[in-house]
Amino acid sequence: MPGTSNDPAIPKSPVNSGWSRRNFLKGVGAAAIAADTILQRVEKSAAADTVDPAAVDTPISGSIPITLNVNGRPRQVTVEPRTTLVSALRDRLDPAVTGPKVGCNMGTCGACTVILNGKPVYGCSILAIDAVGKQISTVEGFGTPENMSPVQAAMVEKDGMMCGFCTSGFVTSITALLRTNPNPTLDQVKAGCKGNFCRCGSYPHLFEAALTAAKNGGGRTGT
Ligand code: FES
Ligand code: FES
Repeated sequence: MPGTSNDPAIPKSPVNSGWSRRNFLKGVGAAAIAADTILQRVEKSAAADTVDPAAVDTPISGSIPITLNVNGRPRQVTVEPRTTLVSALRDRLDPAVTGPKVGCNMGTCGACTVILNGKPVYGCSILAIDAVGKQISTVEGFGTPENMSPVQAAMVEKDGMMCGFCTSGFVTSITALLRTNPNPTLDQVKAGCKGNFCRCGSYPHLFEAALTAAKNGGGRTGT
């Protein structure tokens, strides 16, 4: 079940991960300058993992080309400043990365979960430009139908899905958990999945799959 926004187990929004939409919009509203100059500043800021005040206070207008590192591959994509990461992955990339789903599109359901620099985040609650220079992992990067990751295989074995809409989000959150805690308790699994909803109520199967995956190698595979 979902916890509070302060719960460390819940994927982070830009608000509690260091960036804020308010600060970004402040920049968008200022006087216009060349987009490529802005992008350089944003990329520099992202690479340093710090917020460059110049990038925040300077406007970005129109669509801009950026490079996202998705599942170990650099991917060129053109986005608007307001484009969320999950929208960039699903709607802008060609070929698209559709593992992360859009359920609520407001940071509550977890269907859009991706791993960003090792931490699960809501892809609908972070801007694509904030992901520049960071490692983005989606469910596509964990395994293939022919060579599934331990979490993916356990999800099938334990019948962890009904409609399946939440599944990639759970697989991603569980994979992120097992990469930092290879042998979690049931309570730790529940905490690791607090940011994910399953409207079909498959929680017992999902948690059992997580514990089975831990026994079978956990989150060590994939990008
Ligand atoms: S679609 Fe992102 S949390 Fe629901
Ligand atoms: S299996 Fe349907 S929402 Fe989880």
